[in-house]
Amino acid sequence: MKYEEKFALYRNAAEEELEKSVVTDEKRCGGLIEAMRYSLLGGGKRIRAALVLEFCDIYGGAWKNALPAAAAIEMIHAYSLIHDDMPCMDNDDFRRGKPSCHKKFGEAEALLAGDALLTYAFGYAAKSKANPENIVRALKEMSEFAGCDGMCGGQYIDLESEGKNIDEATLETMHRLKTGAMIRLSGRIGAILGGANELEIERADRYCAKIGLAFQITDDILDVIGDEKLLGKPVKSDSSNDKKTYASFYGIEAAKKMADELFCEAKSIITEIDPKDDFLMGLTEFLESRNH
Ligand code: IPE
Ligand code: IPE
Ligand code: MG
Ligand code: MG
Ligand code: MG
Repeated sequence: MKYEEKFALYRNAAEEELEKSVVTDEKRCGGLIEAMRYSLLGGGKRIRAALVLEFCDIYGGAWKNALPAAAAIEMIHAYSLIHDDMPCMDNDDFRRGKPSCHKKFGEAEALLAGDALLTYAFGYAAKSKANPENIVRALKEMSEFAGCDGMCGGQYIDLESEGKNIDEATLETMHRLKTGAMIRLSGRIGAILGGANELEIERADRYCAKIGLAFQITDDILDVIGDEKLLGKPVKSDSSNDKKTYASFYGIEAAKKMADELFCEAKSIITEIDPKDDFLMGLTEFLESRNH
């Protein structure tokens, strides 16, 4: 199956899973569910979900069995975006082409929608069909990579670095944590649920670490030279917050070169994972040239 076809298959399946994941019922608070669904559905490239499903498939699992985990990763990602946009963080009014969650529902409601998505994700991921030991490991890794040693830790460094001089190592650590960690987590969880061995999990991780860092470098570049309409979120947000980014630190051209190099290294890891895997190659090429 061609990359485009397989990506559409994964994306549609993930979208369907998400649609049925967070639903209103009488016992739950309707307004909160509405805010959660608003930020979770109908937008987003779903690259993290696709990574979960593809790595499950590569390592011998039935990818459909990992759909709850793929949806859970997108829930954690959606929560991170809701909070990231809030006035106390990046103060951005648009996300995925519509008003940010706090603009639509209010700040306290957005805060709770994020909290609820994060919490709900763990129970939802547990519905994945896999060996119970692998499910427990997947949940453990979710908590590690999303928390203070992962995404939240990176977001903290991001906020603490506003308006300050930081060194190259801190900038790289920040990007590896705030964005790289969730992308590594996606590959690892897919591999774990698919039944991969340690060497295979480590290979998935190495590939995802490369594209994960490159992903945030590209995001930094697009904040400067991207098209707001295509991105669906404000450009020049980073400079207005005096953020430290690869674009501000190294300049656009050098940052582009660094991302290109990482994508190139990622491609060489694909040959270790599975030289016949067209999907990862297609995904890497998409990420290299993306404008949204
Ligand atoms: C945006 O991630 C936040 C970053 C980590 C840079 P994506 O660009 O993957 O956002 P969606 O899910 O496609 O909207
Ligand atoms: C990554 O950084 C955000 C998260 C880890 C949630 P950004 O703040 O640059 O992401 P965007 O540009 O708002 O999507
Ligand atoms: Mg941010
Ligand atoms: Mg932001
Ligand atoms: Mg950004």
